[in-house]
Amino acid sequence: MMKITIINGSPRKNGATGRILKTFGNCLEEKGNVEVHYVELTDYGLQPCVGCERCYRTGVCHIDDRAEDINRTIAASDGVIIGSPTYVSNVSGLLKNYIDRGHIVVEQALKGKYMFAVTTFEIAGGASVTGMLNTMFRYAGGIPAGKYVLKLPHNSNPLEQIKVLRQINRKAGKFHDRINRRKRKCLLDRLINFVALHVVIKPFVVRYPNRYQAVLQRWKEININVIF
Ligand SMILES: Cc1cc2nc3c(=O)[nH]c(=O)nc-3n(C[C@H](O)[C@H](O)[C@H](O)COP(=O)(O)O)c2cc1C
Repeated sequence: MMKITIINGSPRKNGATGRILKTFGNCLEEKGNVEVHYVELTDYGLQPCVGCERCYRTGVCHIDDRAEDINRTIAASDGVIIGSPTYVSNVSGLLKNYIDRGHIVVEQALKGKYMFAVTTFEIAGGASVTGMLNTMFRYAGGIPAGKYVLKLPHNSNPLEQIKVLRQINRKAGKFHDRINRRKRKCLLDRLINFVALHVVIKPFVVRYPNRYQAVLQRWKEININVIF
């Protein structure tokens, strides 16, 4: 059974991003043997990251809400689709807050996960939001496996356009196929992750083993060698 998690970073569940994500989910489920788990971030009421960095030592965020539920769902997935509207040329605050709370990058929480970015926008900036998501995927060990960027008027329904439905169907098919074939990361993605992890992050973590206790434990579990 292929497990896919779909995370909606829009505060509007039935906005353009949410509708596109639902359609992605339906297309994937139609392939059979696919289990889709939706995460509507707006339902999780996540508090903001307070910057204590305790998660690096203990492995979990000390704030008592459901951020770790999302992390566990991702950990059990083969693929993750993350969608966001463009807010001031960036991801939504809702999604950025989860990215911070999820302590994703240093832990390499996306290692081996096939990742797909969905972005909607009205005027400009959608491509840079997709770029930001893909950068985060690469830094966190994920395998960028597709993107869908759609420009559309605010409050309009993307699913009224046959072209959009066709594009989603095609892209969902490709994403499914890539996971099914367990296609490896391309050379550039491997290189970016290598530099981020081994050249930038690792020397720092190794220098402060107490501060990064849980990170070092996690790396051991996922076979990241602390010796160069
Ligand atoms: C606070 C805010 C900031 C926005 N900033 C941008 C922007 O920088 N560029 C843009 O093209 N659209 C911007 N938009 C429009 C949304 O990205 C666009 O309407 C999106 O499709 C909404 O997605 P949703 O229906 O899933 O909520 C902004 C909307 C809001 C509410």
